[in-house]
Amino acid sequence: MMMQGENIIRLDNAKLTLILVARAQGAPEIAYFGKALSGGDLAAVSYLRSRNQFHNSIDVDIVQASVLPTLGIGNFNPAALRGRRENGDWSADFNLVQVKKRAGSLTLIMEDGTAGLRLSITYSLAKGSAVLDVCQTLTCLRGVYTLDDLAAGVMVLPDDASELLIHDGQWCNEFNERRFVLKSGTWAAENRKGRTSHDHFPQIILGTPGFGEHHGEVYGFHLGWSGNHKICVDVLDDGRRLVRLGEFLHPGEIVLKKGESYTTPRLYMSYAHGLNAFSAGFHDFTRRHILHWPAGVMRARPITLNTWEGNYFAHELSALMAQADAAAALGIERFVLDDGWFGVRDDDSSSLGDWYVDARKYPDGLGPLIDHVRAKGMEFGLWVEPEMINPDSDLYRAHPDWVLTTQGRPLITGRKQLVLDLTRPEVLEHVFGWLDALLRGNAIAYFKWDMNRDLVAASGVNGRPAYHDQVRALYEILARLRASHPGVEIETCASGGGRIDFGVLPFTHRVWTSDSTDATERVRIQRGYSRFFPPELMGAHVSNTPGHQTGRRHTLSWRAAVAFFGHMGMEMDPRHLAADEAAELAQWFALHKRLRPLLHGGATLTFDAMDHRHAHGVINEDKSHAVVGLYQIQSQSRKGAAPFRVPGLDPKAHYRISMPQPWLKPTRMWSEGQLSLLGGKVAVPGELLAAIGLIIPELRPESALILEFHKVQEA
Ligand code: DGJ
Repeated sequence: MMMQGENIIRLDNAKLTLILVARAQGAPEIAYFGKALSGGDLAAVSYLRSRNQFHNSIDVDIVQASVLPTLGIGNFNPAALRGRRENGDWSADFNLVQVKKRAGSLTLIMEDGTAGLRLSITYSLAKGSAVLDVCQTLTCLRGVYTLDDLAAGVMVLPDDASELLIHDGQWCNEFNERRFVLKSGTWAAENRKGRTSHDHFPQIILGTPGFGEHHGEVYGFHLGWSGNHKICVDVLDDGRRLVRLGEFLHPGEIVLKKGESYTTPRLYMSYAHGLNAFSAGFHDFTRRHILHWPAGVMRARPITLNTWEGNYFAHELSALMAQADAAAALGIERFVLDDGWFGVRDDDSSSLGDWYVDARKYPDGLGPLIDHVRAKGMEFGLWVEPEMINPDSDLYRAHPDWVLTTQGRPLITGRKQLVLDLTRPEVLEHVFGWLDALLRGNAIAYFKWDMNRDLVAASGVNGRPAYHDQVRALYEILARLRASHPGVEIETCASGGGRIDFGVLPFTHRVWTSDSTDATERVRIQRGYSRFFPPELMGAHVSNTPGHQTGRRHTLSWRAAVAFFGHMGMEMDPRHLAADEAAELAQWFALHKRLRPLLHGGATLTFDAMDHRHAHGVINEDKSHAVVGLYQIQSQSRKGAAPFRVPGLDPKAHYRISMPQPWLKPTRMWSEGQLSLLGGKVAVPGELLAAIGLIIPELRPESALILEFHKVQEA
């Protein structure tokens, strides 16, 4: 029997359970989110959530952990909704009016008659998915309502989910992992840069103290949005953690008139035991529910040559054709022509907006280069930056009013460029029009879609902040392009990792992970990236040595090993490789192609940090085949590394281990046992590989070892 006037609402699948308690008054309370619970009787939940009265407190008990904490009702914790009516009313108090349950989804409809607002919250949980998503729609039922803040969703976590793991950084140094313990108060991060940003990724992980790759309770949150965002974690009075993620709104950005609505971005959340399972769950969800491939399924990710670091703006047709020849000989499958092909763009100071081929560089258009690339068996891709305009461009001279600006404020450039106001229909049509024409007129299989600056004072024609509408307009262009040219793939690149999120990924197929192609930096960047996103989307290129961002020198083996697990490619003039390097790189590409179905379709394997050594791997569904890379960043600090234990294999099966790089030469320091073990001569039970582990031979700094594990078939 349940407490009077209360109802328990639940949404679950085999992996997760969400339990809410609906009461006669107020928004429902979040009672539980986490590991799937049995289908048993939940009536007791309302007793378990029943609280005593407190001295020196108000005389009614206000649910703190509701699905929608609001202001002015006795909830002293931060609110998920802030705004005001034209008469100054700022409080809000919603009552549940309807619950709609469908297979895999739950919608709560709530109303506040005093404020004249309706709010609906929809939770979705697909069968077998490890990710629950939620979004909210606020509708103004009368007059005018100015919305200052509405979380996409809130969640309440147990008091021991006290350790935070966040990802932040800067251009060329994204996805830094930072950990800290939040004992009281609020932790918040806001991104106001108008794109997802390099600095603050719209995601957060919380876990029990010391959570690691294979231990601890882990909860993760990601906001699917390519604009401004806000993340808050509050410690409630009772010690539980309230997590809120949503769009960051500028003053007056959203003003709703009667009948108008604002829908938040979607918030994705997951629970898992350990970070490894967490990442595997998010990757699986991304593959099944976020990505939309041409023809419905992902085809093998083509090994890519991108011309940027090999040429910059100095395009010379015969040299590019020769690079295409050299690329094809290495096994490259996609050739992408980067910035510098249009207008009169000899540096980054002009021509964005003038999307016609530069006849000085390409007298007969792009056709001859495209034909040449295709004749070599590769597909052709092209760099574009459609949202941008240089003041020094024909487009700007013709339409100086087409940029995002705030009247009376200076026009601030970034990389010498301004941002087109896509919220103006004629600008949106113009941008869609030239992209569409480019695709109709040329055999282009792929766009590298760049976006190289933050937004400043971005107002639309009505003078109000236009950040939200700009993101929606971008999505509209991408959606229309995908509909008109379903075979074309798009890379999301914003100065490298500045726009990687579940908002843009439904329209795109690859990310340019970072403008840093330095292999040593990339080990860390790619590890942070991989927490939420799968490897097949992760652009990872072998580039020049010394590296253009850091000046470091690296062997070809190190550069290739680091790029190996992602969407592999190269970012240099392939003619500059020494003969032995070219031969080795061709072998890396061949190996990547052989293992590609596993690398890009398996479940990720992560490992706790070792002595300056990082490991990353992937395993197939029946656990018969795994590949693991070990990356030694600096010299070991101890004599002998700790045994490398490999959880995740089938404990009951035997495995043979091999080193698939045929060019790798064991040194005379390797023991007989190591040579036998890593040479595939011994079959080892998976249970022992997990419990005892193997002793990896000493690796020099900035060198890697790739290991392949094959289950021994029973006779
Ligand atoms: C920034 C990108 O991240 C680079 O890869 C390159 O495309 C340049 N822009 C071109 O301007």
